[in-house]
Amino acid sequence: MIQDSPHLIDAIRDRFAHVDSCPFQGPRIFFENAGGALTLKSVVETAAFFASIPDNPGRMNPAGQATQNVIDKAKADLAVFMNAPSGQFFAGESGTELLFRMIRTACLGAPRGNKVIGSSIEHPATRSAARRWAEIAGLDYVNVQHDNDTGRVTPAAYAAQMTPDVAVATIVHASPVTGIGMDVAAISKAIRDVSPDCLIVVDGIQHAAHGQLDLAAYDADGYAISPYKVFSRHGYGIAWISDRMTALPHDKLIGAPESGWELGTRDAGSYATMSDVVAYFEWLGEQVSDETDRRARINAAGREIRAYETHLTNAMINGTGNLAGLRDMEHVTILAGADNPAREGLVCIALKDTPSAEVVETLNQQGIRTHIRKADHYSGNVLEPLGLTDCIRISMCHYNTEAEVARLLTAVRDMAS
Ligand SMILES: Cc1ncc(COP(=O)(O)O)c(C=O)c1O
Repeated sequence: MIQDSPHLIDAIRDRFAHVDSCPFQGPRIFFENAGGALTLKSVVETAAFFASIPDNPGRMNPAGQATQNVIDKAKADLAVFMNAPSGQFFAGESGTELLFRMIRTACLGAPRGNKVIGSSIEHPATRSAARRWAEIAGLDYVNVQHDNDTGRVTPAAYAAQMTPDVAVATIVHASPVTGIGMDVAAISKAIRDVSPDCLIVVDGIQHAAHGQLDLAAYDADGYAISPYKVFSRHGYGIAWISDRMTALPHDKLIGAPESGWELGTRDAGSYATMSDVVAYFEWLGEQVSDETDRRARINAAGREIRAYETHLTNAMINGTGNLAGLRDMEHVTILAGADNPAREGLVCIALKDTPSAEVVETLNQQGIRTHIRKADHYSGNVLEPLGLTDCIRISMCHYNTEAEVARLLTAVRDMAS
């Protein structure tokens, strides 16, 4: 276990850039992973190298062939990382843009008068795309309400609203406000039990850094991630689509291969950094298991990340050493409950008498980076039903430590007055 091995946590931290200090601020604890995780040092090197290559991938020269090979390798690596038995990966402008493109294509491919289903816990990326393209395509939008106390939307809640004419469905894998994960495989099954051919698009953007991606189990048609939230860099998104989604009429150049979804010249460096991310998961799996198979190592890494992040969120909620946890601080409310087994590395809180902006600023002054979420178009769907105008998001990854958690607990305790 990571928490029992100081050597391993050091080795993990050593692989990430700016792990304990910010070039703009100086020493700081990074609890803003849901806004963008730390970047692997290997990604920084790879990105710099490919930024210097002028050649177009695929051209008949050594650089064109080499960069095409890098892209092909990254797609093969992603298939292992995310356990994709078929379908294809491609890059786009961002996770949001790819979700819009997949949802738009699915809606425009559905017969008028059919339905699109999604839930109130989703990020606006999927909700906005589904509502907009449902209207344009002449489809009715069906909203599945999430549970305020647990922050979850259940398979039963989807099932209760399902009808055979639901042609498109959206699912968020984890909420970036509460950090609570959904049972995507079970929700997908609940959808297919009633509408077997429904096109299902999953937003995996918040979940990806927390390990355990398994496309084969989700039985979906689209899945999007944002690489900067899973240890790569900003500037692009990655989507996986099923063969069925691939074949739908979609944006492409006239005369180009029917199966192509990529638009414009490819950035080989962006793909290359995804291979770095996959290699990192394999390395971690090797440290925590005796597995030799690539996928088995990635699975082992995912299980370890889950266990260690749960250890960290438990320490934050229940206390560590002789420090009381957030649940025992009278001035603190924990969103989605103190005991929530679906929590993925994130604790979201509100303080009784202190505005969240002030809390985030006070923490910043002490070198602890967190983030405010407001009841705006990003987070209003979660906060408004709870009667909150804002909250403080403390988001962790497996390179954070219990000592960092202790620093945060001390700082929050001292805000009690
Ligand atoms: C669940 C989820 N969906 C969508 C987004 C938007 O991602 P991006 O800004 O990378 O397109 C985020 C960003 O945090 C997210 O967590």
